[in-house]
Amino acid sequence: MTALRVEALEAGYEPGLPIVRGASLSVESNEILAVLGPNGAGKSTLIKAIAGLVPVSAGRVLLHDREITGRAAHRLPHEGLGFVPQTENVFVNLSIDDNLDLAASILKVPKKRRLDKLYALFPDLARQRRLLAGRLSGGQRQMLAVARALVGEPKVLMLDEPSAGLSPKLVGIVFEKLVEVRATGVTIVLVEQNVKAALAIADRAAVLVEGSTRIVGTARELAKDPQVAALYLGHYRGDT
Ligand SMILES: Nc1ncnc2c1ncn2[C@@H]1O[C@H](COP(=O)(O)OP(=O)(O)O)[C@@H](O)[C@H]1O
Ligand SMILES: [Mg+2]
Repeated sequence: MTALRVEALEAGYEPGLPIVRGASLSVESNEILAVLGPNGAGKSTLIKAIAGLVPVSAGRVLLHDREITGRAAHRLPHEGLGFVPQTENVFVNLSIDDNLDLAASILKVPKKRRLDKLYALFPDLARQRRLLAGRLSGGQRQMLAVARALVGEPKVLMLDEPSAGLSPKLVGIVFEKLVEVRATGVTIVLVEQNVKAALAIADRAAVLVEGSTRIVGTARELAKDPQVAALYLGHYRGDT
């Protein structure tokens, strides 16, 4: 079953100046899809357009066959779509507990049950739940951002560059957690600059260039194709 489908999407910040120009992709239930592409390709704009944060001028977005194109961002968690933005994805002046509590309040979901479940998945967060989010390490803060998005129990979770600013070791830890999240039945769309790490956990990948999807394939195919790597992924060299 297709969890999320994007058809010929056009989106941008100003009328008549689309940044996303004919992007199409689909994610099957329980897959991890990596969305790759050079800096400035429009990856963040695409994911924000799906998340209702950038105006869409053409095309469609379907979540489990229900059209959600242009739906306001605050409604999407109720539709089963979660989003972890690249920056400002936690409240640094609130504790871990209050970050999650607030997310539950906003969504009007049963707090204790949801938080207990999340703390079981994120034991490191559970151990320091009174700590201010601003005092967390980069990796732990990213974990909290993921946990916040999971409070709404999304069917599809989209993340914008969760590896940004993290050491390779922490990238590994965060990505392993994403694999665990997927195992709980969540479909994942992972926008990444870190091609190697993303392809290591993704099932399939889409490469966005100048606002449109140029290549879609299995992560294995993409990782092994040196031409694709050289042409679209710049610095990346696949394992040979
Ligand atoms: N808030 C914004 N307002 C206007 N233009 C923007 C904004 N954010 C990004 N852009 C432009 O959109 C293009 C794609 O950016 P972005 O989606 O961030 O690419 P990526 O995430 O692939 O690096 C860039 O040319 C960028 O300058
Ligand atoms: Mg970006």
